[in-house]
Amino acid sequence: MSARNILVVASLLVSVLIGLVIARGGSGGGGSVATAGGGKILIGLSLDTLKEARWQVDARFFTERAKQLGAQVDVQSANGDDSQQMMQIHSMLTRGVKALVIVPHDAVAMARAVELAHQTGVPVIAYDRIIRNCDLDLYLSFDNVRVGELQAKFLVDHLPKPAPGRPDRIVRIYGAPTDNNAKLFKQGQDQVLAPYLQRGDIVVVHEDWAEDWKPENAKKIVNAAIATGAKFDGILASNDSTAGGAIQALLEAGGGLAGKVVVTGQDAELPACQRIVAGTQAMTIYKPIRSLATAAAEAAVKLAEGKPIIARQSVNNGKIDVPAILCDVVVVTRDNMVDSVIKDGFQSYDEVYRGVPPDQRPPRPK
Ligand code: BGC
Repeated sequence: MSARNILVVASLLVSVLIGLVIARGGSGGGGSVATAGGGKILIGLSLDTLKEARWQVDARFFTERAKQLGAQVDVQSANGDDSQQMMQIHSMLTRGVKALVIVPHDAVAMARAVELAHQTGVPVIAYDRIIRNCDLDLYLSFDNVRVGELQAKFLVDHLPKPAPGRPDRIVRIYGAPTDNNAKLFKQGQDQVLAPYLQRGDIVVVHEDWAEDWKPENAKKIVNAAIATGAKFDGILASNDSTAGGAIQALLEAGGGLAGKVVVTGQDAELPACQRIVAGTQAMTIYKPIRSLATAAAEAAVKLAEGKPIIARQSVNNGKIDVPAILCDVVVVTRDNMVDSVIKDGFQSYDEVYRGVPPDQRPPRPK
C-alpha cells in the first residue's frame, strides 16, 4: 500500500459490521483542498467511450451529483484508445484534479494511470470496470458475475425444450477482451451453462469476442455463425449493443429468425427496450446507473476532501483487495418493462412504446 493517508479497518468483524473505511488522497485528510476556478473542487471523469448511450447517462448523473456537492467535473472520453485515455488523464492531473474517476478502456493498461495519479497524491476510483494490478482506492460497479448468471439463466429458461438427439443450439457473443467485465459476464454465464453443456442439452455452435463491444463486430459474429450453416435457437449476447448487432444480422438473414431466436442483452438502453417490446430481443439487464453514478460522485468528492468512505465489500484486482461498492441489477423483459426501467424514470414510456400501437400498449405507470 502507498504511504498516502489510508485507513482500512481490516478486522473481519469490524469490516463486516461497518465496512471498509477508506480515507486517502485529497486534502491529505485535513489540509485545505485545492480547487478549480471559482473555488470548486475539480474531479476528473475519464471514460473509455461515450458512444454507447449508457455512458452518456453515467456521465450526466455523475456530473449532476458532483455539481450539487459543489464540485466541478472534467469529463473526457478516449474513444476506445488507451494512449488517448492516458493523455487525457495526464492533462487532468496537470489541471489539478483532486480525485480521478476512470472507466478504463483496457483494465490492465490503466494501472499506469493509477500510479501516475498516486505520485501526485490523487486518489482513483474505478467506475464500473476494475483496473487490474494496482493500488486502486475504490471500485464501484455492479455484481458482474451475477449479471452473466442472470443472462444465461434467462436464456436456458427460454430456449425450446431439448429433445433426445436435438439439443438447444446457441451462439455466444462475449464483450471486449480488453474489458475485465466482459470476462466476469462470461464467468457467470459459464457457471450456469456448465451442467447443460456437460449433459449435451445445449451446444455452442459458434462463439467469439466482440472487439470494443461494437455492434458491427457482433453482427459479423452472427453472420459467421449463419455462414457455417448451423441452426441456432438462442444468442447469448453480453450487452445491448452487441445484441443490437446480432439482431440486425438476424433481420438481414430473413426467414423469421429475428423474434424466434432468443437474444439476451444488458444495460436497458432505449433501442434494446424498444426491441424487447417489439419482440426481437428477449431481455436486458437494468443496472440502476443513477445509484452508481451518484454514489461515485459522492465518493469522489469525499476522497477529494480527504474524508472517509465506507465500502462494505472488496474485490481483488490481482494486486490488492480493492474496497468496493456493488449495486444490484434487475432482469427486464416485456412483462416488467413498465415496472422497472420506466417506473424508475430510466426510460420514458412514450419512447419505449413509440413503435407499438396505442391499443397494444400496457397501462402507463401511475
Ligand atoms: C459495462 C456494460 C457495457 C459494456 C460496453 C461494460 O464494462 O459493464 O454495461 O455494456 O462495458 O460499454
